[in-house]
Amino acid sequence: MRILAIALLSCLTSFALADDGLAQRFAQVMTDLENRQHAYAAGQERAVFCTYCHGETGNSKRPHIPNLAGQNPLYLFNAFEKFASGERTDFVMSKLAQNLTQEDRVNIAVYFSQQQVHPVATTVSESLRRRGETLFHNACTGCHGQHAEGMETTPRLAGQPDEYLRTALTRFRENDPRRAGSVMMGVAALLSADDIEAVAAYLSRLTLDSADEKARIARVIGATVQ
Ligand code: HEC
Ligand code: HEC
Repeated sequence: MRILAIALLSCLTSFALADDGLAQRFAQVMTDLENRQHAYAAGQERAVFCTYCHGETGNSKRPHIPNLAGQNPLYLFNAFEKFASGERTDFVMSKLAQNLTQEDRVNIAVYFSQQQVHPVATTVSESLRRRGETLFHNACTGCHGQHAEGMETTPRLAGQPDEYLRTALTRFRENDPRRAGSVMMGVAALLSADDIEAVAAYLSRLTLDSADEKARIARVIGATVQ
């Protein structure tokens, strides 16, 4: 029943689409090799501080910190916007986001979006992981993608640390004001604590195979898949 209700919700709920001007700005940077390389280099330089927590290649150094690697650049940009505007709050991130210019935010997003995710190998029970896989495929792929690769308006979840996933889902489920107003509140309200354990176990171990990873990158840079 729960799964059905979530699947239905995923069809009915609409959520804010990315700002058109901004989407165009990213398309301009991402589809042109020279612009992309310039943004990448500038982003790498500005991201040094971020790497203390999020890792040099955007692979998080602590289980409660998310990976930034492999995210759609527009999602990353909008996530900083939410911290800067106060829509989403975190002790560290809320202060940091206000100190970055728009140009920095674009460049940093380009830099991290181009990195590969390396999931941390943790042991989880196979039956739990399988349960999470079924739940994910029934209720989450419509918004997060078939392989949890994310889209412009939704985050990649594949390979995120287990603890980060559990905390995020629990906050949504409990209407925590730190992530108020998110479409995920309605989705997570239908999950039990066991569902959260299961889906986190599945997603934290999930990797995209090289063809799917290539297709994801090609989509982001507006190229055709070879
Ligand atoms: C002291 C540690 C720390 C530093 C330094 C840091 N972050 Fe974070 N970041 C976090 C934590 C913790 C979260 C998770 C917050 C939450 O749970 O909502 C986060 C979340 C994020 C998110 C949201 C990701 C998602 O999946 O929704 C983005 C984007 C982000 N950080 C970007 C940055 C950038 C860019 C910098 C550098 C300017 C930076 N962070 C520096 C700890 C840090
Ligand atoms: C209606 C579309 C929709 C559906 C269905 C959906 N999500 Fe989401 N999800 C989103 C959006 C949009 C965000 C970003 C929200 C934000 O920043 O507040 C998100 C964020 C998340 C996050 C936080 C990730 C991060 O990096 O901070 C997790 C975890 C998550 N979703 C898991 C799930 C799971 C598990 C399911 C299925 C049970 C699911 N979602 C179904 C739209 C959806």
